[in-house]
Amino acid sequence: MTSPPGPPSGPAPNTRVVVAIDGPAGAGKSSAARELARRLGYTLLDTGALYRTVALFARRRGVDWDDATGCAKLASDLQVEFRLEDGENRVFAFGEDVSAAIRSADVSEGSSRVSSHPEVRRALLDLQRRLAREGGVVAEGRDVGTVVFPDAAAKFFLTADPGVRARRRYEELAAAGEDADYHATFADIERRDARDTGRAEAPLTQAADARRIDSTELGPDEVVETMLREVRDREARAGGTGPQGSEDASE
Ligand code: DC
Repeated sequence: MTSPPGPPSGPAPNTRVVVAIDGPAGAGKSSAARELARRLGYTLLDTGALYRTVALFARRRGVDWDDATGCAKLASDLQVEFRLEDGENRVFAFGEDVSAAIRSADVSEGSSRVSSHPEVRRALLDLQRRLAREGGVVAEGRDVGTVVFPDAAAKFFLTADPGVRARRRYEELAAAGEDADYHATFADIERRDARDTGRAEAPLTQAADARRIDSTELGPDEVVETMLREVRDREARAGGTGPQGSEDASE
């Protein structure tokens, strides 16, 4: 193989890649993705927030969550922006900060319903790809490694036992001042798992080339460290002078 002429001396700069993190509700995806993005200096693309925002606006505008066409119209008109402020990934829709409103139990249920419509998923696909056009993005969701960014440089599937996930979600809701009940949260997690994994279009599934991380007995730091090591390695390979796997990828 011939090398391109005149390579600069010294190590090649690291390339800002796309990182895809998928997994079920409550596996710790959001906090791992947020911390990973912070450590890498990347943008965080919370794809669940997009489905949540569609559900919120459907509720406000009187569009039924089961109305695929109506919800898809909302999704294609959506103007969303993510801003990292004081370590929080805030979500703005049409300029309004909807970060808190999209986290209610009601909107959680709605987001799962609207996300089952292929028309809605298609409408949000372009938006997600546009938001990640420049690279340097940590995308988290259910199908980011399989459908949205199949060529992502690093892919993870983060999971944990359902009981542990329900407890984490319950604690999150309680901390946010929501009227939470553990058994209801567990039932909710099971229902959403069944819907997310059972839907016809883009079901929640692990990409063949994703690294599986089970956070049942791992602390958040261990999860992030594991991801960070792998992403740094992929960045170095992507920015290296040779093809993937060139020997220049060491620190
Ligand atoms: O991750 P989350 O709980 O904020 O996601 C909200 C809902 O959106 C969830 O029920 C699954 C759905 N979702 C999806 O279908 N595809 C994604 N890429 C992200 C979320």
